[in-house]
Amino acid sequence: MRIFETDLLCMGAGLAGERVAVEAAEAGFNVICLSLVPPKRSHSSAAMGGMQAALGNSAMSQGDSPDVHFTDTVKGSDWGCDQEVARLFADTAPIAMREMAHMGVPWSRVVPGVHTYYKGGKPFEAEELAEKDGLIHSRAFGGTAKWRTCYTSDGTGHSVLFTLDNKLLQLGVDVHDRMQAEMLIHDGENCTGAVCRCLRTGELVIYRARVTLIATGGYGRIYSATTNALICDGGGQITALETGCVPLGNMEAVQFHPTGSVPTDILLTEGCRGDGGTLLDVNEYRFMPDYEPEKAELASRDVVARRMTEHMRKGLGVKSPYGDHLWLDIRHLGEKHITTNLREVYDISTKFLGVNPVHQLVPVRPTHHYSMGGVRINKDGAAYGLRGLFSAGEAACWDMHGFNRLGGNSLAETVVAGRIIGKKVVEYLQGTDSIFHTVHAKDAVKQVQERISAIANARNGKENCYELRSILHQTMMENVGIFRNGKDLQSGVDTLQELLARSENIGLQGHNKGFTPELSLALRMRGMIKLGICTAYGALMRTESRGAHAREDYPERNDEKWLNRTLATWKEGDSLPTLSYEEATPWYEIPPGERGYGGGKTIAADIPEDKIRPFGA
Ligand code: FUM
Repeated sequence: MRIFETDLLCMGAGLAGERVAVEAAEAGFNVICLSLVPPKRSHSSAAMGGMQAALGNSAMSQGDSPDVHFTDTVKGSDWGCDQEVARLFADTAPIAMREMAHMGVPWSRVVPGVHTYYKGGKPFEAEELAEKDGLIHSRAFGGTAKWRTCYTSDGTGHSVLFTLDNKLLQLGVDVHDRMQAEMLIHDGENCTGAVCRCLRTGELVIYRARVTLIATGGYGRIYSATTNALICDGGGQITALETGCVPLGNMEAVQFHPTGSVPTDILLTEGCRGDGGTLLDVNEYRFMPDYEPEKAELASRDVVARRMTEHMRKGLGVKSPYGDHLWLDIRHLGEKHITTNLREVYDISTKFLGVNPVHQLVPVRPTHHYSMGGVRINKDGAAYGLRGLFSAGEAACWDMHGFNRLGGNSLAETVVAGRIIGKKVVEYLQGTDSIFHTVHAKDAVKQVQERISAIANARNGKENCYELRSILHQTMMENVGIFRNGKDLQSGVDTLQELLARSENIGLQGHNKGFTPELSLALRMRGMIKLGICTAYGALMRTESRGAHAREDYPERNDEKWLNRTLATWKEGDSLPTLSYEEATPWYEIPPGERGYGGGKTIAADIPEDKIRPFGA
């Protein structure tokens, strides 16, 4: 069996993993990145619209600052975020964006007199444009007071990922692609690497690492309709959960993006609405201003997704063989804008939907998009429960997003958190010696081998993993979706518990032990169902509505009882996670209040004086 030793093992070679890897490699540490796919095909490359950072360069960003960005982020989170982390993020974002420019990201730039500005679907003259030629431009995104989403047309994730991946090549970092992490190596106190399975050959490989970083992205593939790539199966969160001692945070906080394309579910960027696009119903009527007079299509995502769903429930959606949908209208932005600043939207619409957005309406509906929950880490990126284990990006619950992430804040998080956590990983590596005990690696390998044999030999009543996945998908969509209620959530938990029991008897239909997607899925299935249960059970227990967690039977945001974060751990043999709760934030720069959009009632809490800090101090 091959054994690799390294200082830092990055599980995942998307933006967050690679940004951490750059810090460690530049400090002289040995780094290995693992990836399910060639790294430039990581899911980060699918992020389109941009990254939020308060640079204040464009006409509509005048007066922006990290304070305003921080305020938008806290309100966006519906006061569910850790304000210390959100502050760290907002203050660091401008530095991280400029740093990416130095590494080579070709940001779209200010060209005075050239940008057309739209508000509510209508162009307007921004007369005294204090725009300086050549600075990094920004566009509008939902839930923001200023235009601060820095972008490269609508291929931001793609261009930043190519830049960072090239930087890794320059630094000589090894990327082992087509490698699936199956189990963390640990002794209940320290994490010392992972046992992985080569997706080309089926071989098991041991990685011994002083630091292991989980940066594997989200777990959107537990839902059937998601903008997430096939590889976003929650692999990293599963390895953490299965340790029994590392908690996942806020798994019930799940984001639906207003404009998933129909029927493919491919993302159509919020940049469409940021640049002036509107949403229309079956009568081609622009309905969002009726619900949200102030922000209309640019309220935060949870609000827009709910309003769209409400509108379709009134029978005002467009009927189609793929279910009801609404229309995205960007025709008025014109061919030049669409084929340059929104060129991926143009390509996706024409090639995947057969619709030309220059002349035609594009079918859209809210689609699963983002996991606010993930491996619970502290502000330095260290996972709770095991020393030597870190996490970053969507895989983690850092937690700057609380119960609703603002568009453009996750792509920004990858490089901001990557930078901050990367430096903390370096400090850890400089200050800590690690002792590897062979016994723990051997034990982990044995467990993985036994699972593979059980699945391959298909003992007792063989279950088909694809069938189980379909039930998981359907249950998550129907019972743990945009609107939730106790009855559906309870029935979802029951169904998923039955599914978990069935997953113990999965058997392979095929025989190949090397490149076999069936075996890869079969090995993931139990964990994916557990992630589904953590999501559904966390949602069932949280008897309030906050951000993207909208309970029809508990419509108020209840700060008195629920100003906290859910932590889910899973003890071996249990059929439910153990839930506990911790305070959402150590202190408040912005005490809980109204978001300014989205309506909804709040049950107020008394925040002790000593928990309140002066704003911006
Ligand atoms: O709509 C988008 O471009 C997605 C951005 C994001 O999720 O932050």
